[in-house]
Amino acid sequence: MKTQVAIIGAGPSGLLLGQLLAKSGIANVVIEQRSPDYVLGRIRAGVLEQTAVDLLLQAGIGERMGREGLPHDGVVLCFGDQLHRVDLHALTGKRVMVYGQTEVTRDLMDARAASGQTTVYEADQVAVHDFDTAHPSVSYVKDGQRVEVQADFIAGCDGFHGVCRASVPAGAITEYEKVYPFGWLGLLADTPPVHEELIYVHHDRGFALCSQRSTTRSRYYLQCPLTDKVEAWSDQAFWDELRRRLPADTAAKLVTGPSLEKSIAPLRSFVAEPLRFGRLFLAGDAGHIVPPTGAKGLNLAASDVGYLWQGLTDFYGGSSVGIDRYSQRALARIWKAERFSWWMTSLMHNFPDNGAFGHKMQVAEMDYLFSSQSALTSLAENYVGLPLL
Ligand code: APR
Ligand code: PHB
Repeated sequence: MKTQVAIIGAGPSGLLLGQLLAKSGIANVVIEQRSPDYVLGRIRAGVLEQTAVDLLLQAGIGERMGREGLPHDGVVLCFGDQLHRVDLHALTGKRVMVYGQTEVTRDLMDARAASGQTTVYEADQVAVHDFDTAHPSVSYVKDGQRVEVQADFIAGCDGFHGVCRASVPAGAITEYEKVYPFGWLGLLADTPPVHEELIYVHHDRGFALCSQRSTTRSRYYLQCPLTDKVEAWSDQAFWDELRRRLPADTAAKLVTGPSLEKSIAPLRSFVAEPLRFGRLFLAGDAGHIVPPTGAKGLNLAASDVGYLWQGLTDFYGGSSVGIDRYSQRALARIWKAERFSWWMTSLMHNFPDNGAFGHKMQVAEMDYLFSSQSALTSLAENYVGLPLL
């Protein structure tokens, strides 16, 4: 098989890149190790910045998002049982869109199927070759047959545990990592959200987040020890613990119901540098991870893809400037989102080793935030997303 861009991974990064390239007339093949149902079964984030919404619109998949997505003008931080609303729209002129990653992925899958481009699911033993030459290729095994795809470029959109980053020689890549000493236990339920906006809760028992997917579907999270097992958390135990971490008025409004999904995710900050190795590019979770507190994971994946799409379009138009600048441009935005996500995580969670001083610093930070217009504006600007540079 021959194509222009071989894309590894059919998560949001790979599928969005595939759609955008196709719009620009650039042929591509997406190679994914799992099945479509498996990919759609992973419950992930749900907040889109305007820059991500714009890219999805450019990829031609904004129609359902426009109908079903919920524009939010603000978010709420809760500290010491007090709710503090951050008026994102008043502070920045922008808002965010609540629309689940599962729905984004489903829309991208449908658009790709309709466009007739090749997507290979359940590809085994995916491997990337010769990306340090002008003739890279990808191989995989499907139904017992080994297939080779020759391409001009390989886009590594295969997530944190993918094969692309792992194939780069150790001396050519630097990895920066911080692992947090807790996880998030998430629960999805067909119950109306407890509040019309998201609530991020700092509590002595641990962080909690009240999020949503629609007016009838809620997504809640609880900070938990990394040693907790999801099987040991009954739905009842989850709801009881969430109620304890919410102010009494809010807890009284909480509607509970059976969980549709429950899972525990560790929290990590991670960046690989650079993001280009000859004719291999890393985009999305393959190149970086943020803790979910800042809602930046999917948005960074989208901005990486935006830069890479521009670079590849320019390349086929006769200029390599865009692909030469890809790594530097993407990383500049990534590090800003890493800073914000780390800061939000540090402010909102209970750190087992922080002690009384650490807790006082969180209280002081929160007091400062809500007494300083510039500090609040900075939070809002980062939350709605910094402009694409
Ligand atoms: N070969 C082929 N596909 C692979 C391989 C491999 N060796 N390894 C992983 N994959 C696939 C995974 O099965 C997955 O479907 O690559 C895809 C990567 O998708 P994601 O993990 O969703 O990563 P990305 O598309 O970059 O999306 C980033 O996901 O984790 C969230 O917060 C993150 O919202 C952000 C988004
Ligand atoms: C979610 O809805 O899953 C979600 C929302 C905001 C976050 C993280 C996760 O910061």
